Amino acid sequence: MLLLTQAPDPLPDDGDDIVASTRAALVAGFTALHLPPDADHSGDLLAPIAELAVRERREPAVWVGTIPEPATYRAVYAALRDRGVDLVNDPDQHLGVMEFDRAYPRLADLTPQSVVVTELDQVEAAAAVVGLPAFVKGAVLSRKHLGWRYCVAATLPELRERVAAVLRSPYHARGRAIVRTLAPLRHHRVAATDVPIAREYRVFLHRGEPLAHGYYWPYFHDFVALSPAEEAEVLGLARRAAARLDAPLLSLDIAQLESGAWLVIELGDPQFSGLSFIAPRPLWRRLAERLALETCS
Ligand SMILES: Nc1ncnc2c1ncn2[C@@H]1O[C@H](COP(=O)(O)OP(=O)(O)O)[C@@H](O)[C@H]1O
Ligand SMILES: [Mg+2]
Repeated sequence: MLLLTQAPDPLPDDGDDIVASTRAALVAGFTALHLPPDADHSGDLLAPIAELAVRERREPAVWVGTIPEPATYRAVYAALRDRGVDLVNDPDQHLGVMEFDRAYPRLADLTPQSVVVTELDQVEAAAAVVGLPAFVKGAVLSRKHLGWRYCVAATLPELRERVAAVLRSPYHARGRAIVRTLAPLRHHRVAATDVPIAREYRVFLHRGEPLAHGYYWPYFHDFVALSPAEEAEVLGLARRAAARLDAPLLSLDIAQLESGAWLVIELGDPQFSGLSFIAPRPLWRRLAERLALETCS
């Protein structure tokens, strides 16, 4: 099993989620192939892959790094295939979970109502569907790192401004803004950000089976612990959502409404997702076991 990692080589003692995942994957039996850390803008990602010996038996691979542009993902996938290596998600499966608008039609009843906007003259119609205030994000990412007001709009002029701003960032939007009903999530407040901190959990799944899960936000609160019944609800919803999607490896973020019900907030490709409070060792051990079984059968 091959791990394509954008962690520094040699691995530092301490580091970000990419380093932590790399360390855990090595313990779980993966072999590391180091790629440059900023694949889209510096360094040649394909050179280390071209140096791989062609495999006699097909070998599974997982990538841990920063979100690549679609063309970069496609190029890496194709280069690996030529060496006899199969990256866990093919390019369509990868994009199907990275770009929210691709998954939305299948998840519509499990997630806040959402409208895709590519031009500013579509904003008013979107507001008529989802209501105001609305939540705004790009097809790939929101701008929550800047603050809550970058993600919410209470009026049409605000909505137009938020959508225009996110569309100006190809990194977040890739040409598509998502305008969503603002869901009343259970939350608390922290000093570090004005983003309401929801009761929200990240679940990593492989072929529909949860591998590991953990609280999404990096802040402790007394509502973080899930009762066994709640945990079963979260994992049950994650399974239902994953069953409708094509990617073998995916992540789902699931949050609780004030009403107590649970809903899907977003999804992603774990190859490029943060770990949140997910312990990397059991996650990578389970993934390694499952990939090993697939290659035997
Ligand atoms: N429709 C929504 N209603 C209420 N809160 C939301 C909604 N969508 C997202 N959020 C909150 O905003 C946070 C960031 O949104 P998200 O779609 O996960 O963007 P990112 O990709 O940047 O993480 C989520 O973790 C959730 O707490
Ligand atoms: Mg998120």
